[in-house]
Amino acid sequence: MTNEFNEKLEKFQTSARLGGGQAQIEKQHTKGKFTARERIEKLLDSGTFVETGLHVAHRAIGFGMESSHPASDGVITGWGKVDGRLVYVFAQDFTILGGSLGEAHGRKIAQLMDLAYQNGAPIIGLNDSGGARIQEGVDSLASYGEIFYRNTRASGVIPQISLIMGPCAGGAVYSPGINDFVFMVDQNAYMFITGPEVIKAVTHEDVDFDSLGGAVVHSEKSGVAHFTAPDEDALLNQLRWLLSYLPSNNLTPPPFISSSDDPQRLTPELEQIVPIDPQQPYDMHSVIEAIADGGEFLEVQPDYAQNIVVGFARLAGHPVGFVANQPGFLAGVLDINASDKGARFIRFCDAFHIPLVTLVDTPGFLPGSEQEHDGIIRHGAKMIYAYSEATVPKVAIILRKAYGGAYIVMSSKHLKCDYNLAWPQAEIAVMGPEGAVKIVFRKEINASDDPAVATLERTRQYREEFANPYLAASRGYLDDVIVPGDSRMRLIAALESLREKRQSTPARKHGNIPL
Ligand code: HXC
Repeated sequence: MTNEFNEKLEKFQTSARLGGGQAQIEKQHTKGKFTARERIEKLLDSGTFVETGLHVAHRAIGFGMESSHPASDGVITGWGKVDGRLVYVFAQDFTILGGSLGEAHGRKIAQLMDLAYQNGAPIIGLNDSGGARIQEGVDSLASYGEIFYRNTRASGVIPQISLIMGPCAGGAVYSPGINDFVFMVDQNAYMFITGPEVIKAVTHEDVDFDSLGGAVVHSEKSGVAHFTAPDEDALLNQLRWLLSYLPSNNLTPPPFISSSDDPQRLTPELEQIVPIDPQQPYDMHSVIEAIADGGEFLEVQPDYAQNIVVGFARLAGHPVGFVANQPGFLAGVLDINASDKGARFIRFCDAFHIPLVTLVDTPGFLPGSEQEHDGIIRHGAKMIYAYSEATVPKVAIILRKAYGGAYIVMSSKHLKCDYNLAWPQAEIAVMGPEGAVKIVFRKEINASDDPAVATLERTRQYREEFANPYLAASRGYLDDVIVPGDSRMRLIAALESLREKRQSTPARKHGNIPL
């Protein structure tokens, strides 16, 4: 019914929903960006968005702030559904004060985070902000602090995801930094603690936005971004794909989606994909795709530390996290960045009941003073720690090489992997035959008439005696040796038997993962 009260409300709503106004909206569109409201509409199932805090406005004074009190204070907050499942979402509105975060803006986000936490649903932030609102001084900083605290408290309780769709500067970066996953659109998105102008003033370095903190930098170099896409629509599609693997919170199982892919399907093509010769590279993605339901694999951080591949797939309809060495990149060595990437992914899966499937083919840790000086001991230890503390079902296959520390690290029985398999060509030893022979038989080889022949003979013997899976299997370190074609079937059977796995952890405040 129309009356003056309703009319006044409707007028307010119409104007408030325009954010910073038509001119600002057009500016946003000209840059190739959608508005905050359009982004929410695109993300959520049609008609499911319920907004909170449209009436909220700042109460700052000074710097001309008292003359304008835009509704929503530059952030749209609320909840809705993605593929029928509840999510909480906020979208910063760049058309109002550059999406900058003041006291009221921050409080809206913090209140939404409390709702998401209490109701056990993911929180998704669509970021497009100039950072702390300069005019609001310490109140802006306080609001960031409130958000960071909530991010930390919600870590491992609900999935927390940030999409960077514009600037994400200063204080704005640390909420995404604590989140589980960061998405960045290729154009217009950048993240940095201090911008080019401040850098120039302090260090005289000349750097532009993109080369300082664009999507390429954060997906390839810093490892801050987990997913990138050419445009906002593609980014939102990726987000929906990711959500399809994630439970809403740490107390519910990840979503099962019935699959038409036969759990008994054999994978003989793996014999073509993986060369017998352990020196020959191949693409681990093809192995994962051969094993996974429907060949579907959502890779996480595909452009960072490419020597390890991590990501989500389904086996017999249940989400799993794959962790696999990549012989097609740096021979699949474990280095600092690969260890960080692997450990973080393992811990995410463990926090949210997603079983871990590990595919091993690595010559070991990358040797060199650079790695040692940058702390490979500290970083490599993260992988050991992450696998050891993970109580989700863990299954692993050694495809070819598992040497030295990498054998132990990559979900070995000794770190309490539940089910360990190997292919017949697997080589499990303290080190590769070439290196081992040079150390153990050095004197004998040097003294022989023909050192080359002696080396070859000792290498052959070493390979026969040590570099195979049977010694490990005889000790019970492997549960079985299988032909490659049985891989999918055997992994699925193992995971089926582990579905109700319960493993208690010691009573302690928390462990002290090497950071
Ligand atoms: C208040 C801000 C703002 C901010 C932008 N605006 N950032 N207002 N506080 N932090 C306002 C602008 O004044 C402008 O208002 C409108 O938003 C659009 O900004 P433009 O500069 O015109 O847009 P653009 O050219 O696209 O540049 C966007 C930008 C730039 C790159 C983000 O605005 C910028 O560099 N902002 C400052 C970024 C920054 O250094 N933030 C860190 C803050 S310190 P009008 O009225 O003209 O339209 C911080 C410390 C916290 O965050 C640390 C906690 C750990």
